[in-house]
Amino acid sequence: MRLDRYLANMGQGSRQEVRLLIKKGHVQVDGKVCRQTATQIKDSNQVTINQQTISYQEFSYYLLNKPADVLTATKDQKQATVLDLLPKNLPHYQDLAPVGRLDRDTTGLLLLTNDGQLAHRLLQPKYHVAKTYQAVVAGEVKPELVAVFAKGVELADFTTQPAQLRIKNYDANKKQSLVELTIAEGKYHQVKRMLKTFDHEVLALKRLSFGPLNLPADLAAGEYRELNPEEVTALQTAGQAGLK
Ligand code: URA
Repeated sequence: MRLDRYLANMGQGSRQEVRLLIKKGHVQVDGKVCRQTATQIKDSNQVTINQQTISYQEFSYYLLNKPADVLTATKDQKQATVLDLLPKNLPHYQDLAPVGRLDRDTTGLLLLTNDGQLAHRLLQPKYHVAKTYQAVVAGEVKPELVAVFAKGVELADFTTQPAQLRIKNYDANKKQSLVELTIAEGKYHQVKRMLKTFDHEVLALKRLSFGPLNLPADLAAGEYRELNPEEVTALQTAGQAGLK
C-alpha cells in the first residue's frame, strides 16, 4: 500500500494533508525519513511520524449509541448522519458504514465498520443474528401476544421468524406498555410493523443489543466506542455460526 494511503487510512489526515507531512520530512520508514508519497509499505515496514509509530489495522469496528433525529447513512445533503457523530480522524473514517439501519427516530446500538464482508454476513437472515429492541407502545400489550410472536408474525410481505416478546410494564394512566422484542431479521420498519399488526403503535424504539453485543449502560446517546478484540471475535462468530 502507498505510504500516503497508509497514513490517511490510519486517520493521520486527508490524503492531501499526509502528502504534505511526507514531503516536509516528518515521516520515517524503518527509521529513515521518506519524502516519497508513493512508497510501497509492506507489513514488515515500520512507519513513524516524528518518532511515533503508526501501526496499521485493516478493519475498524465502532459501537455508537445512536440518538434520535440522526440518519443511518454516511452522507446527506441536509440532515445529520451517524458519521457526523464520529471524529474524522478515526482510522478508516472515509470507509466506515453502518451495519444495517435504524430509523431516524430509533435510538440505541448501531455498529459501524469498514469490514464490509462481516457486515454483509451479520445482516443475512440465515445467520439469525438476534436484535433486541425496547419499545414504548400505545395500549396494553396482553400476555397472549407472547405466544403469537413466538410463532412468527405475518406481515404484508413476509412472515417473521419466531420472535421473543417480553412485557415489562403497563402504565394505566398513559395507556402505554413497555416491551422488549427480540427478532432474527432486520427488515424495513420490522418492529413497528410487527407491533402495529396488533394495534400497538410504537411511540419510542431503542435497540438494546445486536447479536452478542449489548448497548453499554455508560454510553450516552451520541457517544461511541471502539469494539475490543473479544467483541470483534464474538461478532465474527455470530456472522459464521448463525446464533439462535
Ligand atoms: N424496527 C423498526 O421498526 N425500526 C427500526 O429502526 C429498527 C427495527
